[in-house]
Amino acid sequence: MSMLSLRDKKIIWHPFTQEKTADIVIAAKAKGCYIYDENGKAYLDLISSWWVNLHGHAHPEIARSIYEQSMQLEHVIFADFTHEPAVKLCEELKELLPPSLNRFFFSDNGSTAVEVALKMSYQYWCNQGQENRKIFLSFEGGYHGDTFGAMSVGHTSKFHDVFKSFFFKVLSVPYPDTWDDDLNVEEKEQKALNILDQYLEEHGHKIAALILEPLVQGASGMRMCRANFINDVILRMRAKGILVIFDEVMTGFGRTGTNFALDQINAKPDFLCLSKGITGGFLPLALTVTTENVYSAFLHNEWKYAFAHGHSYTANPIACAAAITSLKLLKKTNLTHINQAHKSGISYLKTKCPDIKHTRILGTISAFEIDSAQKLKPQFLAEGMLIRPLGNTIYLLPPYCITAEELNVVYEKLGNMLR
Ligand SMILES: Cc1ncc(COP(=O)(O)O)c(C=O)c1O
Repeated sequence: MSMLSLRDKKIIWHPFTQEKTADIVIAAKAKGCYIYDENGKAYLDLISSWWVNLHGHAHPEIARSIYEQSMQLEHVIFADFTHEPAVKLCEELKELLPPSLNRFFFSDNGSTAVEVALKMSYQYWCNQGQENRKIFLSFEGGYHGDTFGAMSVGHTSKFHDVFKSFFFKVLSVPYPDTWDDDLNVEEKEQKALNILDQYLEEHGHKIAALILEPLVQGASGMRMCRANFINDVILRMRAKGILVIFDEVMTGFGRTGTNFALDQINAKPDFLCLSKGITGGFLPLALTVTTENVYSAFLHNEWKYAFAHGHSYTANPIACAAAITSLKLLKKTNLTHINQAHKSGISYLKTKCPDIKHTRILGTISAFEIDSAQKLKPQFLAEGMLIRPLGNTIYLLPPYCITAEELNVVYEKLGNMLR
């Protein structure tokens, strides 16, 4: 089938796309930080293909491990069976996580990693006779995926308004998003904590868990908050015995400058949701990691106490093999060059484009606001840059193989376009 007929056929319904007005690029191949269309035009992937790619496209070591695993064991039912790639991956991940997070449940995308954490936290209470703990806490603007549970806890993200009448009860805490030279950050944090305290006072004994994206809310516009604030929040949850879920589907695997955002926060969660970068962007895979305390609440002679949840492709061995290799590469990767390039690039933009606001950087992520950012999307593509503004937020979240020189050129181009 020719590339032209691919575009004309309009057979596919794309995600998060208004098909009537969409202009679809045909990706013919990709290598390193670049995606190439059917005419050979290169696009620098500055959003890591929806935040999944870590080490660059078509990385030969990951490709090789996928091939080798496919020849050995491509897939097997994961109930009553296990396999080496799954066990090895969890053992290696365990080395990078706080000792309290030591039980691993597989699924295959970020939304289901979240769904599992929500279901497990509710059943954790049910298994102990506390069925009344039905309320969840989340932060305004939080996004956790597109399944019904994930949409319920992300109900303020504005992505899913049409489904609102189906959502379960969630109390939303204001999110104290902050940026460089923010003079009001303490006031915003205090306001959030006051509202949280009020919720705890009124509903504490009915709350199952709090879910949050630690340090950066991705989909609502790379909105950042301070680690100490999250720490204060977790301590309040601990005092009431409420479970804490960290959704690190986006922030995991080096994005925030440390292996996980939780490395920058003293108090640790009861659940950690991982997906996206886990396989380096090659194959779908997800994990919900939890504690011995949660795990043991499901151990019983009666089946009804077990966690009745699973997916056909759970812990796919090929995806696990890709994840093991991706983790090996991550351990050797230095991310400081990206952070440095963001710092000099954002300083440069501030001098060139006085209209940009709320600049912020964390690890490999940089972001800022500018009016009418959406209108720039086609221009970015024309300039060979895959940048997808979120509302009025322009952000860069590149694969880790990008060089400082490549990023400098991007900031120079942005300076000229935004001036
Ligand atoms: C923080 C967070 N959680 C969950 C999800 C959902 O992941 P998936 O798209 O793999 O279902 C996303 C996706 O962007 C995310 O950013």
